Amino acid sequence: MILTAKADLSTKPALSENPVLRAYCGEVMEQVPIWFMRQAGRYLPEYRAVREKHSMLDVIRTPELACEVTLQPLRRFELDAAIIFADILNPLIGMGMQLDFIENEGPKIANPIRSAADVERLIVPSAEENVPYTLKAISMTSRELNPRGIAVLGFSGAPFTLSAYMIEGGGSAQLSTLKKFMYAEPEAWHKLQEKISQLLIDYLCAQVHAGASAVQVFDSWVGHLGAADFSEYVLPYLKTVFTKVKQITKVPMVYFSTGTAGLMSLIAEIPGDVVSVDWRLTLPQARQALGPRVALQGNLDPLLLHASDSKLEQETKRVLNESDSIGAYVFNLGHGIVPKTDPANIERVIRIVKEYRRCLSFT
Ligand code: CP3
Repeated sequence: MILTAKADLSTKPALSENPVLRAYCGEVMEQVPIWFMRQAGRYLPEYRAVREKHSMLDVIRTPELACEVTLQPLRRFELDAAIIFADILNPLIGMGMQLDFIENEGPKIANPIRSAADVERLIVPSAEENVPYTLKAISMTSRELNPRGIAVLGFSGAPFTLSAYMIEGGGSAQLSTLKKFMYAEPEAWHKLQEKISQLLIDYLCAQVHAGASAVQVFDSWVGHLGAADFSEYVLPYLKTVFTKVKQITKVPMVYFSTGTAGLMSLIAEIPGDVVSVDWRLTLPQARQALGPRVALQGNLDPLLLHASDSKLEQETKRVLNESDSIGAYVFNLGHGIVPKTDPANIERVIRIVKEYRRCLSFT
């Protein structure tokens, strides 16, 4: 295993032993580190109580609330990292997108991108101007958690997935509006990717500056593309974002995607430290496709948290057993926790993971 990331933890001594960061830096550990995507969210009654009084955007824009909601799962569960509460989409507001989160529907953008002129009009604000509240929330949260040895993770959307919302105006089954735009207006597409990439580089670096110890880039929608399109329209921008943020911050960087089993050999070219995979590949299959360089994260299907106790236990243990042979590894889901998940099942999974000792056989 090649150690690719060298997080400078000298200013945060309590974090030098943080298991997530050690695994992200390539260390092969017997005890498996753990955190969950969407660990703060509607499945927690204390989160729903906050949301009864405040809108999604208000929670994001009020550092005290964002910090509180980030800490909620850490009060219940023995997790090794917290992910800062925000969304991949709210930074788009500063670019000129009219975003709202509609109850029971999800995000909606009232002025989607439909032409080259729309792309031209997009602003690229600095993170300090655009999302100062998220930076403040990161510094408050890391001040609270770092002395206890818990890492705070920053994040952003990836250029493709953000483009999907910007062009479609919301969630979409086929991404047909995006694909038509991408194929018919390649210049405008590339210009859009450049602008988003520029925004993300500054945003991710600012999060690290504010106290994030690692960052994860979410590319939830990119599995809609085939390999040739991924290479042409997406990969160059991922390479730029990861290279620049890495050069400037030195922290471990995670790339998350879903439905990308057929893209793994290209994903291996992204100069990040960790690849977070979904359940469509086993961990050994993902390792095989990605090669030895990166650490792996994943990959329990979040809907298994709705299965019987025995099925959940069996599948969690299967994922852990499969992790024995893959080297550096952090337990997570293959996608985020869904609403209505029973928090007791999160507790069950954590207990199984914490009690497991890997029988290491990585060569
Ligand atoms: O705990 C965490 O993981 C940190 C916070 C976080 C949120 N969204 C909070 C949120 C993170 C990392 C995200 C990422 C995100 N947001 C992604 C990438 C990961 C993924 O799930 O694919 C995407 C695609 C989005 C866009 C988004 N935001 C959607 C599609 C929705 C609606 C669907 C849903 O789950 O409600 C949101 C809203 C959202 N973002 C909520 C939360 C807790 C629910 C809002 C509420 O409280 O009503």
